[in-house]
Amino acid sequence: MKAQANLYDRNSTMKIRESNEADKLGIETVHIQAFGKNEGPEIAALVNDLLKDETAFPLLSLVAIVNGKIVGHLLYTNAVVTQTTESVSAQLLAPLGVLPEAQNQGVGAQLINEGTKRLNKSGVELVFVLGHPKYYPRYGFRTAGIIGYEAPYPIPEESADAWMVLELKKGIIGRVKGKIQCAKVLNQPQYWRE
Ligand SMILES: CC(C)(COP(=O)(O)OP(=O)(O)OC[C@H]1O[C@@H](n2cnc3c(N)ncnc32)[C@H](O)[C@@H]1OP(=O)(O)O)[C@@H](O)C(=O)NCCC(=O)NCCS
Repeated sequence: MKAQANLYDRNSTMKIRESNEADKLGIETVHIQAFGKNEGPEIAALVNDLLKDETAFPLLSLVAIVNGKIVGHLLYTNAVVTQTTESVSAQLLAPLGVLPEAQNQGVGAQLINEGTKRLNKSGVELVFVLGHPKYYPRYGFRTAGIIGYEAPYPIPEESADAWMVLELKKGIIGRVKGKIQCAKVLNQPQYWRE
């Protein structure tokens, strides 16, 4: 197996910033490589579509850059908690991708930590994700279904723990329950299988 290049070999530092139009190709490359040739092109197209989807706004699109190259991308889009009496500001984390050569070096962690910080600052109260149940809990995410948050499409019982929520404003979980409505582009059953 080829040894993984260390991102920080040349004393380089990682920068995280919001993406812009010029990052389009770099973001596509990240997802195509991160998710592989079967899933990757579909995820890259999904990101492009989400960035243009009005129902995805407000959104937060972050890129991680090392030596001028985009090595990771994280997107949060608008989520609405419906069937509830209290209005809550929520976002959905999807997708997160890191170039294979840059994985396991903290890029994903820094993107999520920076995203959480920015969302918190802008008043977001809950963040939802359908993802690896062993990865997201380290950032505070917990199983969402059993505490009353229904995903846009039913999650099969065997992967119920992949549907998770992060509480940014203390006291929301337990008080507010409901069904999550995601951006139009994401509202397709194929995106809700883990
Ligand atoms: C998952 C992913 C975003 C993590 O990014 P990363 O920069 O490699 O992660 P970090 O370096 O911050 O963290 C590495 C840790 O996460 C763990 N990890 C990585 N992928 C994981 C997974 N699928 N399930 C559980 N843990 C995982 C690693 O084992 C490592 O654990 P350690 O800290 O105990 O050694 C990246 O591996 C990736 O792009 N994967 C392909 C696309 C994907 O699956 N995206 C997530 C969709 S939910």
